[in-house]
Amino acid sequence: MHPRYLNRYLADVGWRDPLDVPVDHPVTPSSTPNEDRAEWTDLAGLARSLDGCERCRLSEKRTTVVFGEGDSDARVMFIGEGPGAEEDRTGRPFVGQAGQLLDRMILAMGFARNETYIANVVKCRPPGNRDPKDDEIAACSGFLDRQIEFIRPDVIVALGRFAANRLTGTDKPLGALRGKWSHYKGVPLVATYHPAYLLRTPADKRKVWQDLKLVLQKMAEGSSPAIFNDEL
Ligand code: URA
Repeated sequence: MHPRYLNRYLADVGWRDPLDVPVDHPVTPSSTPNEDRAEWTDLAGLARSLDGCERCRLSEKRTTVVFGEGDSDARVMFIGEGPGAEEDRTGRPFVGQAGQLLDRMILAMGFARNETYIANVVKCRPPGNRDPKDDEIAACSGFLDRQIEFIRPDVIVALGRFAANRLTGTDKPLGALRGKWSHYKGVPLVATYHPAYLLRTPADKRKVWQDLKLVLQKMAEGSSPAIFNDEL
């Protein structure tokens, strides 16, 4: 869906942003039991509010809502597409084969996985690993936004076309988005190929490493050498 239609779509389906900001015009308050906005004051509360979520059809076939995991103060946040079979079973993002490759990418950058934050555009597994649909992405949209606001990373890495399109607000192919900086709500963002794609197309690992080096450069710019952080 083109981004300029997204707000109208969200308003039409009655989406209420977790921040309680009306999308286009005020919507009638929902009485969904798990929609207790009092809980949306931190990451854990936001995660709790997704327990038993039935905001879209993905709830019908999923086993577990995969909220995301990692350091709530992470400087870098990876955002993928949606849970696969292993993620649906365990409730953790990126733990299958693609996740193992993501772990190696993170290590190559000089981080441990638990120093980063990892989330997805949709929090429930699309059946058979099909692509998430526009209305499913829209149903999770406010939760991802709120998650990003709580983490406040220095840099976002969008993994694959769905995350890249959702966060850049374009429908351009990934090849046109990668290799350069975009922003999402003021946070610098690099889009790169999804690890699952890299498993099928290992020759493109080189391009991903170029993208991750951009991230490392940006993070180095933002931090002072240790000597300047010392309390003298
Ligand atoms: N692919 C994704 O996009 N996310 C996951 O969590 C796992 C695989």
